[in-house]
Amino acid sequence: MAAPAELRARLERAGQGHLLRFWPELGPAQRSALLAALGPGLAEHCALAAAARGRERAPPRLDGRMEPLPGALLGSARRSGPAALQRWEAEGFHQISQNKVAVLLLAGGQGTRLGVSYPKGMYDVGLPSGKTLYQLQAERIRKVEQLAGQRYHRRCIIPWYIMTSEFTLGPTEEFFAEHNYFNLEKSNVIMFEQRMLPAVTFDGKAILEEKGKIAMAPDGNGGLYRALMDNKILDDMKERGIQYVHVYCVDNILVKMADPVFIGFCVSKGADCGAKVVEKAYPTEPVGVVCLVDGLYQVVEYSEISPETAQQRSPDGRLLYSTGNICNHFFTVDFLQTVAQKFEPQLKHHVAIKKVPYIDEEGNLVKPLKPNGIKLEKFVFDVFQFSKNFVAFEVEREEEFSPLKNADTAEKDTPTTARQSLLAQHYRWARSAGATFVDENGCRIPEKFSLSGTEDPPAVCEISPLVSYFGEGLEVYMKNREFCSPFILNENKAEMLRNY
Ligand code: UTP
Repeated sequence: MAAPAELRARLERAGQGHLLRFWPELGPAQRSALLAALGPGLAEHCALAAAARGRERAPPRLDGRMEPLPGALLGSARRSGPAALQRWEAEGFHQISQNKVAVLLLAGGQGTRLGVSYPKGMYDVGLPSGKTLYQLQAERIRKVEQLAGQRYHRRCIIPWYIMTSEFTLGPTEEFFAEHNYFNLEKSNVIMFEQRMLPAVTFDGKAILEEKGKIAMAPDGNGGLYRALMDNKILDDMKERGIQYVHVYCVDNILVKMADPVFIGFCVSKGADCGAKVVEKAYPTEPVGVVCLVDGLYQVVEYSEISPETAQQRSPDGRLLYSTGNICNHFFTVDFLQTVAQKFEPQLKHHVAIKKVPYIDEEGNLVKPLKPNGIKLEKFVFDVFQFSKNFVAFEVEREEEFSPLKNADTAEKDTPTTARQSLLAQHYRWARSAGATFVDENGCRIPEKFSLSGTEDPPAVCEISPLVSYFGEGLEVYMKNREFCSPFILNENKAEMLRNY
């Protein structure tokens, strides 16, 4: 059977006639699936993608329109005194104890740079415990719930919303089921799926990944706002009494889920939207900077400013634009609702250039060696502009940010650097708690306090998040004690050491 003539004519007019090239070879199920994908929105999307790529090849410089964040909106973990930090922490724990705080994980990405075929959260970076990113995060949630519960003598629940995509939902669900939801209650782990968009060639043609199937990709982490509506997630949050949401990326091994200090800081400032930031390491570091553009809060990419602006310094010697975005956000549920219902269509599409496998004219599958396709993505942080009361909170990079982006062949943001960052942090915690280490021959391992976070610590000591969330409470197990490296402080060991 030939393809419907009207459809063929419409696709030809839109420059998408190639999508019916293999129509005669398709079975009924493939044909109806392809027909469903060939709606009128497809041509519009392809044109949008090609035009967006044209614009992004020469992004406009924003220098003249930018200002740094005003100091009054910027809190700092390092530059605040202990009293302020304790006040914010107490406020955060109070909100958690009232069951008003949820965490939301962005886990719909395909992790193409890391190059594994399964969701990034299932990745094991080679810690002595073999824990995956998902497990570390689950255990951090349990520990914060427990700490809040101990303070307020009540059972605390932090629901965990996980945004997945067609690629990650199935395997993530299976993985959690296999691991008994890491001892969280299944009803408090809510997975939902974001939408997908067609991948498009540089000249605006939808790509076939099979003879009857258009290549699709998730619509970016800013797809969150549509996914919240599609899946009625905000209704679920409201039913549970949630008011504040900590949104974060799957790949930061140091992420402090529902960090009470950050939550407390944002709540006590009356913020509707907040971002954790780290000081930019050097002017050309390819990290987005949170600042103002034409008076609106925005993340500006390095490519959007001139090197001169990137190098500007304030009188204290710090970079003028130093607030590096680490995809760690605070939102009130009301803000999320307003954005999702009102502003989502205004969010800009960004262009991601990727290698997209395709079917060539002869019907063979080709895995391109060079990027050949455009994927349009929305970004989660593009909603800062709609905030009425925005704040940012600067934290120490070595304590809070070490993303897993690339395979070990790359220089940075690899499994090795992620593992090193976590083990360096745990070593620092153990040393501060008074531990010393010996090697397998019983020889004392020389101490080292200042670690860059991207080097191996002198001794290997992994501390389970179930024992300590941010280094707290370790003296009781570690003070004046000697441990043989490698050492894992898990719940059982902690119990033995406490009673010892
Ligand atoms: P990245 O931009 O690093 O993308 O995502 P990625 O897909 O994980 O990796 P590459 O670029 O293909 O190598 C940052 C965060 O946003 C999530 C990711 O899962 C990660 O937590 N994300 C990304 C989504 O949830 N959905 C998307 O469509 C894209």
